[in-house]
Amino acid sequence: MTPTIVTLPNKEAIADYMAEMFVAAATADIAENGVCTLVLSGGGTPQPLYERLASHDYANRVEWEHVHLFWGDDRLVLPSADGSNYKQVKEALFDHVPVPTDNVWRMLTELDGARAAADYRWVLDNFAVQHQNRTGWPVFDFVLLGMGSDGHTASLFPESKRAEADEGVRVVSADYEDRPANRITLTESVINDARRIFVLVTGEKKAEMIATIIDGEQQPEKYPIQRIRPNSEHLTFVLDEAAAKFL
Ligand code: 6PG
Repeated sequence: MTPTIVTLPNKEAIADYMAEMFVAAATADIAENGVCTLVLSGGGTPQPLYERLASHDYANRVEWEHVHLFWGDDRLVLPSADGSNYKQVKEALFDHVPVPTDNVWRMLTELDGARAAADYRWVLDNFAVQHQNRTGWPVFDFVLLGMGSDGHTASLFPESKRAEADEGVRVVSADYEDRPANRITLTESVINDARRIFVLVTGEKKAEMIATIIDGEQQPEKYPIQRIRPNSEHLTFVLDEAAAKFL
């Protein structure tokens, strides 16, 4: 499949574009299915989007009581610690919008990795059984991903094992940019079942990797972002001009 590429001038324009994409998707999904499931990523890139969605202009355009929040990955730290993706989204977004607490499906990052992963597998399976009449994990409606300059996405790092078809959640140790962390992550098996996936990438530092993974050969072991190939074929890379400069 060929991903859609959207290039916008800067981070602010990306936040505006993505906020509109989310409002449209959530409105359609809630009308059709009664719920919208959103998978969140950490990192600096989506922060302006979270703030935009929490702002007065947007907060009232989403029926937040029907939105369910999940995480693509998180660090195994206390949910109150800096470095927690849960904390990032809590402070930037859902403290400011009326998402019911029961709809916030966080990873239990205060537990050890094996237990946190087992709990999240259970959370995903239970949600899928209750809302979608399937087992394993839900077909997520709207997945946000970032990409590292090494080609990682979520916490799927270069040379990590490809996911088995039934492997949904994984414990990972990684040392990206000399910042070692234990993490848990959804695998490509879960992510690729989603209805819509958006990969947000900004900055010149990632321009070479963007050109490599979009125009170069497929090396999904080396560049895990290339493992993202949704069955729905709805994969959009949303880039700023700096990240797109070699395309
Ligand atoms: C994280 C994410 C990770 C992130 C990329 C890009 O929590 O760190 O899971 O995959 O999206 O590392 O991060 P930046 O947006 O900060 O460049």
